[in-house]
Amino acid sequence: MSIVLNRPNIGPREQEACRRVLASAVLVQGPECEAFEDEFASRVGARHAIAVSSGTAALFLTIRALGLGPDDEVIIPDYTFIATANVVSLAGARLVLADVHGHTMNLDARSASKVVSERTSLIVPVHQYGLGADLSALGEIAPDVPILEDAACALGAGAEHGKIGGGPGIAACFSFHPRKVITTGEGGMITTNDDLLAARIRALRQHGQGPVGTMEPGYNLRMNEISAALGRVQLSRLDEFIEARNKVAKWYEDGLGNLDWIDLPIATPGRIYQSYVLQIHADAPVSRDEFVAGLRRADIQCQAGIEPVHRHAPYRDVPRASLGVSEALAKSALFLPMYCGLRHDEVERICSTIARIAGT
Ligand SMILES: Cc1ncc(COP(=O)(O)O)c(C=O)c1O
Repeated sequence: MSIVLNRPNIGPREQEACRRVLASAVLVQGPECEAFEDEFASRVGARHAIAVSSGTAALFLTIRALGLGPDDEVIIPDYTFIATANVVSLAGARLVLADVHGHTMNLDARSASKVVSERTSLIVPVHQYGLGADLSALGEIAPDVPILEDAACALGAGAEHGKIGGGPGIAACFSFHPRKVITTGEGGMITTNDDLLAARIRALRQHGQGPVGTMEPGYNLRMNEISAALGRVQLSRLDEFIEARNKVAKWYEDGLGNLDWIDLPIATPGRIYQSYVLQIHADAPVSRDEFVAGLRRADIQCQAGIEPVHRHAPYRDVPRASLGVSEALAKSALFLPMYCGLRHDEVERICSTIARIAGT
C-alpha cells in the first residue's frame, strides 16, 4: 500500500457546507466569505482578515498595497517556495536574498543585516513549515523597516509575541493550498491591524473598488463562497488537526530520534507541523537522494528539499548575502509524509524503511 505525502482531511461537515452554498446559488461576494474573515481574524487575534484566491494573491496584494516600487528593496530568505520571490518581482520592487538559519530554516537576521541598506523597504520572513521566525531579531537589525510575515505554512503556530498573524508584522499572509494545515482548495488570507492597509488591499482585491467608487486599477483576486464555506469548517477543526500532526511528529521522533546522522525538525512549543522536514547529514550512511529513491521504491511518497530562490532562472543575478546554508539545505532536506490521518503503523513503516535504506 502506498503512503502519500499529504492528504487533506475533508469530512461530512465540509461536504454539507459546500452543498449549502451550492443550494443557495450565492457563489461569490456572499455571507460565507464575510463570516470566514470574521472567524479567522478572531482566531489569530488581528483586527482585519481579508480572504483571497491563494496565498500568492495574499502576498502580492499586500506588497502592491504597501506601494513599493523599483527603488524599494525587499529582503526575503533564499530558502523558500518560489512564490515568496515572485510576488516581490511582480509587484515591481527589488528582490534581495538573505540566508537562513541551519536548524530553524528561517531567515537569519545576521545574514539579513549584511544586505540591509537605506533602500530596504520591507522584510518578508517565512515561518517555514510552521516554525515561527525570529521577528525580534529582524526588528533589531532594521527597526524602521516593516515586516510582512509569509505565514503560508504557519496557521495556528505561535510566535514570540503571540499568535502568528496578530503580532508585530505590518501584515501576515496565509495559504489554504491542500498541503497546508487547513484547506479551501485554493485560497489565502491576509491579516493586519492597519486600517488603511486593509482598505487598500480590499479595494485592490476587487477591481480597485472602494467604498466611494473605483480608487485605482485593481484585480479580481477574491475567494469564492464554496471555498469560504469549506474554510470555515476547516478552521473550526484547526486544533484537532494540529494535535493530530503533533502526534505524528512524536511518532517520527520515537522512530528516528536515535539516528545521529539525521536532524529532526525543532520541537519548540508553539510550532505546528505543516510539513515534516528532516536534514540528512553529509556523513550519513547513504545520501539524501538515495533515501528519496529508496522510499519511493518502497511506495512511500517523499520530496527532496526545495530549490533555493537564487537557483531559479529569473533570480540568478539578484543581490544577495552569502547563501551557504540555503545551498546546503537544498542537498540535505527530505520531506516525509505528514498529515492528519497518517497512522502509527504507517509512520513505523516509514522509519523502518529509512533504517533499512541506511543499512542500520
Ligand atoms: C512559503 C510559501 N509562501 C507562499 C506560498 C503560496 O501559497 P499558494 O500556493 O496558496 O499560492 C506557499 C505555498 O506553498 C509557501 O509555501
